[in-house]
Amino acid sequence: MAKRTINDIDLRGKRVLARVDYNVPMADKDGAMRINDDTRIRATLPTLQSMTESGAKVVLAAHLGRPKGERVPSMSLRPVADRLSELIGQPVAFCDQCVGQAATDAAAKLEDGGLLLLENVRYHAEEEANDPAFAKQLAGDAEVFVNDAFGAAHRAHASTAGVAAVLNARGGQCVSGLLMERELQFLGDELESPERPFVVILGGAKVSDKIKVIDRLLDKADTILIGGAMAYTFKLAKGFTVGKSLVERDKVDVAQAALDKAAKRGVQFLIPSDNVIAVPTEIDGRFAFGDHRVNDSENIPDNVEGVDIGPKSAEAFCSVIAGAGTILWNGPMGIFEDERFAGGTFAVAKAVCEATANGAKSIIGGGDSVKALNKAGLGDQVTFMSTGGGASLEFLEGRELPGVDALADK
Ligand code: 3PG
Repeated sequence: MAKRTINDIDLRGKRVLARVDYNVPMADKDGAMRINDDTRIRATLPTLQSMTESGAKVVLAAHLGRPKGERVPSMSLRPVADRLSELIGQPVAFCDQCVGQAATDAAAKLEDGGLLLLENVRYHAEEEANDPAFAKQLAGDAEVFVNDAFGAAHRAHASTAGVAAVLNARGGQCVSGLLMERELQFLGDELESPERPFVVILGGAKVSDKIKVIDRLLDKADTILIGGAMAYTFKLAKGFTVGKSLVERDKVDVAQAALDKAAKRGVQFLIPSDNVIAVPTEIDGRFAFGDHRVNDSENIPDNVEGVDIGPKSAEAFCSVIAGAGTILWNGPMGIFEDERFAGGTFAVAKAVCEATANGAKSIIGGGDSVKALNKAGLGDQVTFMSTGGGASLEFLEGRELPGVDALADK
């Protein structure tokens, strides 16, 4: 059921609490935390602009990192307020508390069309515990709760589910923001009756992380392409050797069940027929890779690890992608952070963009595939890139997300 959005209600002069996902990567530079990627901040601008233009007084709540109830200075949202202010072209007040008198006073000072960002809600253990008293404090005197934090919607926390319960109980309104609406549209509605052929590309480390998504998509997809380390567990299921590649030996039966289901349903299910391999060496608990080369065989030799799909597999995957009507991509094909092992992921990224230019709808399911596309400079050449990581996966598995569930239906 579609959710009501900010476009369905009158926000003029209303007090709004908006949950956004500003969990952005940051790094210390010369003693100050700097934002490395502001995609998630930019993604909320349409919602924020629409609300401020309507004259709403907007208080923003967000989390950063996992400070586990402690005030960890490197996880302050203050740099985000500055960046948001630059991007949106208006002042964004910042309060170094998210509840209590200081937060109440800061919210009371907001004028129509004003924006205030509260400090990291996870500085309080009550946030993740979804403590009702904390949720009530956070809700303050808001008349409307707007959830635009798709990336955090799989968490039943005070700032996602708890505040919605508070607002619902007192006759307030709970609606989705425009980013949330687009996420639900592309990862939900668009995949319900996709333009065919529907090609799903899945990568990443573990079969166990993706098996529920695979199982659900086997009911809808025409082709599933598997890369990343999880492909090696499928190789084991097919009776090939995997050398020192990352595998989940206890998930071979799960992989086999997926292969059987694909065969039964007539879904084309491709795993790599060749790989880039390298010799792993453990140094101080971390792995370094040497002597990398293409292994032009389905079997991976004993002393090496598969680190990317090989050129033959990349070519086969890309030719399937070229014929797609709809593409869903989640997870890299190899260790793309190391440029020696990025070839497969970048070939797939390029093929997805070319297919999009030729009319296919391409939906990138968040996390590392978004990073890979951005790294390849192709982020603006797909139909939709999700801002969710874990949330996209849970949603693609068909699970209800507590942060979405709490919002009013259309
Ligand atoms: C994310 O980065 O995926 C979201 O912000 C959720 O963060 P979490 O996994 O720490 O809850």
